[in-house]
Amino acid sequence: MNSPLPYDMGNAGDLLKHGVISEILACWVRSGPGTPSFYDPFGGVPWQDPPHHRVVQRVKALNGFTIQDAQSDIENRYLGSGHIARAVGEKLNSTIEVYVGDRNSDRLENLVQCGLQPIELPNYDRGDGYSLLKCSTPDSLVLIDPFADFLPDHPPDVFPDIRDVASNCIVVLFILLDPNNTEAIQTYRDQRNALLQHVWSIYCPPLSGTGILGESTYGAEVVICMPPRVISNMGSPLKRALSAYTKALENVLRKEDSMVNLAIDLSDGTEQK
Ligand SMILES: C[S@@+](CC[C@H](N)C(=O)[O-])C[C@H]1O[C@@H](n2cnc3c(N)ncnc32)[C@H](O)[C@@H]1O
Repeated sequence: MNSPLPYDMGNAGDLLKHGVISEILACWVRSGPGTPSFYDPFGGVPWQDPPHHRVVQRVKALNGFTIQDAQSDIENRYLGSGHIARAVGEKLNSTIEVYVGDRNSDRLENLVQCGLQPIELPNYDRGDGYSLLKCSTPDSLVLIDPFADFLPDHPPDVFPDIRDVASNCIVVLFILLDPNNTEAIQTYRDQRNALLQHVWSIYCPPLSGTGILGESTYGAEVVICMPPRVISNMGSPLKRALSAYTKALENVLRKEDSMVNLAIDLSDGTEQK
């Protein structure tokens, strides 16, 4: 039912992004207060079936992590973010409301047909996923997942909006970095340091020789922006969960590319309880 994608769902970047989202949502549901909603204005497709056999092996090897619970039918389908978020809630006997958008109307229709709710908010334009950052989405996790077109143009406009929204909700930004364009990467890091606060990040470099589409050309970075009150509520358990997940993912990926090092920086704005 899905249109062909130029990458395999469940590639290393996806496992980083989806593992991080799963751990944040699980931590939030366990710590409270309340249950988060999840917004994905760059929704993509609901799942890919069948997944690449190496993706199946990787997910099966991520024992004890929330993504494995969420991808409970991994032999047959690899779920995208919206369905993962919903599955995390179900696993924890909680209801995480999931709202999705996409500028591609077929993809959005597909997501909605598969049971997710379309984003309907004043000032939100589904043709411009970044417009969600102009809306009020308190007590939620917002995923900004624009694929490869984020750099170099978007940071100056998008980072101030992320900073404002992240006073009220968690924003996870997933970006692809071209390792050959070191100038663009340095500019992005400078802009990030200047314009965002309370940021954690995890980076996965390109992998070679795995045969999985979409992980050999770009490095993938997850940037997590959090309100200070969220850090004081669940910063410590979340830090432990993300550190453990990053280490486990690195070990799993090293079975296929022994040179892989994931870089994790959870040092900014992390007051310990
Ligand atoms: C990588 S996929 C999203 C994957 C999904 N977030 C997940 O984790 O399962 C990116 C999607 O964003 C959509 N997209 C790209 N640029 C967009 C924009 N400016 N506004 C809205 N949607 C956009 C594309 O059509 C594509 O379906």
